[in-house]
Amino acid sequence: MRVAAILLAAGVGRRFGGAQPKQFISLGARPVIRHAAEALIPHVGLLQPVGDAAMLADALTGLEHLPVVPGGDTRQDSVRAGLDALDALPEDRKPDLVLVHDGARPYLPEAVIRAVLEALASHPGAIPAVRVADTLKRGQNGVIAETVPRADLYRAQTPQGFHFALLRDLHRKAAGTDLTDDALLLERAGHAVALVPGSDDNIKLTFEEDLVRLERLIGPALLPRT
Ligand code: CTP
Ligand code: MG
Repeated sequence: MRVAAILLAAGVGRRFGGAQPKQFISLGARPVIRHAAEALIPHVGLLQPVGDAAMLADALTGLEHLPVVPGGDTRQDSVRAGLDALDALPEDRKPDLVLVHDGARPYLPEAVIRAVLEALASHPGAIPAVRVADTLKRGQNGVIAETVPRADLYRAQTPQGFHFALLRDLHRKAAGTDLTDDALLLERAGHAVALVPGSDDNIKLTFEEDLVRLERLIGPALLPRT
C-alpha cells in the first residue's frame, strides 16, 4: 500500500495572530510545521505540503517532500489542491491511502498515526478522536438552555486517513462548500468512518494560550515580535 500525507499550511492563523502564520513560528527551535512533517515522514512514502512555497521550502529544508502546491481560500480548497497534486503523479506513484494533517498540530504521537493507518484496512476512512470529558451545556443568552449528553461525543483530530480515490472523488464533488474536516464528506456519503484513539497532546495551535501547553511538550517558542 502506498501512503501519502497532505500537510496543510495555507492558513493565515487569524485567531492566533502574530507576524507570520502560526505553523511557521519556531517551537523548541524548529518550526511548528516541521515537527508535524518529521512525525509523518516515517509512516508515509510521499509528503505533499500545501501552502506558501518559499516559507515551506525553508521550514522543511532537508526533509524529503513533493513539490509544494499553493492552497486555497478555505481549508477544504487546500485539501483539494493537495489531492489534485497527488492525483497528477504517474500511476505507479499514486497513493492508495492518504492522511490529511493540520500543519498547526506539531505534537503528533506515533501511536495515533499507526492507529489511523491500521483502521484503514477495514474502513474507507478513520480519524483520531478523544472523548469529551467535561459536561457540555448549550447556552442561550448567557444561561443554560440544555445539558448535552456527552457519552457518545468525541473531539475530532488529525491526521484523518482515507482511501485515496474515494476522498479525491468526494472532494471534487463538494468543491465550493467549506467543511472543517474531511471525515464529514464520507459521513454524508454514508461511509463508515472509524474512530481511533487520538491524544490529548495532539493539540491544534489555534489560540495564543495553546502555545503554553505545546511549549511544555516540545520546548519554548520563539515568536517573531516584529
Ligand atoms: N489551512 C489551509 N488552508 C486554508 C485554511 C487552513 O491549509 N485556507 C490549514 C491551516 O494552515 C492549519 C489547518 O488547515 O494547519 C487547520 O486550520 P486552522 O487551525 O483553522 O488554521 P487557520 O485557518 O490558519 O487559522 P484561523 O482559522 O484562526 O484563521
Ligand atoms: Mg481556519
